[in-house]
Amino acid sequence: MVESGKPNMVDYFPILRWIDPQGIRRRMTGHFEKLIKLFDGVLKERLELRRMGKASDNTSTTDVLEELLKMLQTDEIDEPQIHNLFIDLFAAGTDTTSSTVEWAMSEILRNPKTILVKVKTELNQVIGKGKIVQETDISKLVYLQCILKQTMRLHPPAPFLIPRQVKEEVQLCGYTIPKNSQVLVNAWAIGRDPKLWINPLSFQPERFMDSQIDFNGHDYELIPFGAGRRICPGMPLAMRMVPVMLGSLINCFDWELEGGILPEKLDMEEKFGITLAKLHPLRAVTTLVVL
Ligand code: HEM
Repeated sequence: MVESGKPNMVDYFPILRWIDPQGIRRRMTGHFEKLIKLFDGVLKERLELRRMGKASDNTSTTDVLEELLKMLQTDEIDEPQIHNLFIDLFAAGTDTTSSTVEWAMSEILRNPKTILVKVKTELNQVIGKGKIVQETDISKLVYLQCILKQTMRLHPPAPFLIPRQVKEEVQLCGYTIPKNSQVLVNAWAIGRDPKLWINPLSFQPERFMDSQIDFNGHDYELIPFGAGRRICPGMPLAMRMVPVMLGSLINCFDWELEGGILPEKLDMEEKFGITLAKLHPLRAVTTLVVL
């Protein structure tokens, strides 16, 4: 993720593509080879298990790999396609999810007397103290969902979405965008635009309480998952995984910042990259909730 987020001068001077002046393509090739080797190991291991009859179509193994292996048998897909699909899913689904949880936890721990208390109370009332959040609880955890919207408004994990290319020349807001230009959509700036948000820099989950705004790609002021045909296909998964993780962390543990740092002094600086990481990772100390 670090490597793929580095500005590459080849994008601006394509003639340099074959020289690869910063060595980014060379290093990325190495990283991809390592990943493919890893996925290939998992694939071969599962094939071996299936051969030994320990995992077959009739067993309880019903994960994505199992479904892909069925397609492999019927030649609907080949091994390199499985490798590449996994590269896509891992690259797109890992950092985005973990950084959302980290930013949300940071914002919550920055407001221990208000937001933390409120979300703990909701979890306590809806699912009971100390319990792990289940997928079926999510729709009832309204405040937790508002925290997530608020987190992704201020800290969209993919701040420029994924670069797009213009198929035809278009006129937009008085500008001409030539055919084939690369377009970056600044979701980060949209989420902080004072023309769209009152007190844009303030973390207020309440602003979503009575609001219809959602991040499913229809409300352009909040597009952390993008919009249109290339909208994040992992959104339904992320929208289950993230609240389950975040809600469970808050409901099962008590938290405070490491080293007695005052909540209002917590460093919230961002690091430049393809995903929006915290410059200084959150460090917090936890104890198990006493029931
Ligand atoms: C909080 C979590 C996540 C966020 C904020 C997020 C955000 C995004 C964004 C902004 C895009 C580009 C959309 C566009 O340009 O319009 C994208 C694409 C994508 N995401 Fe996610 N994502 C998340 C989780 C996941 C997960 C868990 C997966 C899969 C396991 C996933 C798979 C993908 C894939 C494959 C694409 C590329 C789609 C394409 O190019 O057509 N994402 N995501």
